[in-house]
Amino acid sequence: MVRFIAKTTVGQKFWMSITGLFLIIFLAVHLTANLMIVFDDTGRLYNEVVHFMGTNLFIRIMEPILALGFLIHIILATILTLRNQGMRPEKYHVHKLGHTSAWASRNMFILGLTILAFLTLHIINFWVKLKFGGTGTVTIDGVEMENGYKMVSALFSMPIYSIIYIIAILGLGYHISHGFWSAFQTIGWSDDKWRKILTGCAYCYAIIIAVGFSIIPIYFLVK
Ligand code: HEM
Repeated sequence: MVRFIAKTTVGQKFWMSITGLFLIIFLAVHLTANLMIVFDDTGRLYNEVVHFMGTNLFIRIMEPILALGFLIHIILATILTLRNQGMRPEKYHVHKLGHTSAWASRNMFILGLTILAFLTLHIINFWVKLKFGGTGTVTIDGVEMENGYKMVSALFSMPIYSIIYIIAILGLGYHISHGFWSAFQTIGWSDDKWRKILTGCAYCYAIIIAVGFSIIPIYFLVK
């Protein structure tokens, strides 16, 4: 199996698709948890969600698996892109796609690098602060917990961060608009009927992710 992944393009594409779909599922969970921030402006609901995410055993186990998923996805994307450079002319299935998707298809690696840069900033902004202190604490129903609401609202009260986040999130939406159906195509759903259905699903999902995550910085910008 290891040799299959390491040596063959098909194996590498397969695992890039599987890890991509895993990351897509993570985004749905992450978005749902973070949208709680706009439903209660006292911050209580969001702080409880952040506390739950930080203490729940299943989430704790999933965290290193998620990091591994990102790592494999990035390494395989780099290997495949370097190998394809010069080998694959633009003809490759792009002619079947609309303009937007064709653009996303050609620029998946660049979009991926942009997301990686954003992710690095994002982890420093939030994850590091939550894990190593620096957010301040709040007590809810006798339980002392990190003040995640204060941390997020403080960051997005600086318009430059809100704008960086919105741009990166739009890039993420583009990345997903191609990656979603492309992953299914790689693992076998490649006939014309499925392509139409999956392309539609990919656009819907990309819009939900882009609009959903953007709502959070926009909410603090206009608040
Ligand atoms: C504007 C919307 C967002 C907010 C408010 C937000 C908030 C947070 C917070 C508070 C954490 C640390 C919480 C914890 O460790 O449980 C976190 C971690 C993380 N975020 Fe976000 N996030 C946003 C958008 C995104 C986007 C668009 C991505 C995807 C590229 C992303 C990927 C991650 C990852 C990979 C982690 C670390 C994994 C984890 O600990 O759960 N986030 N985010």
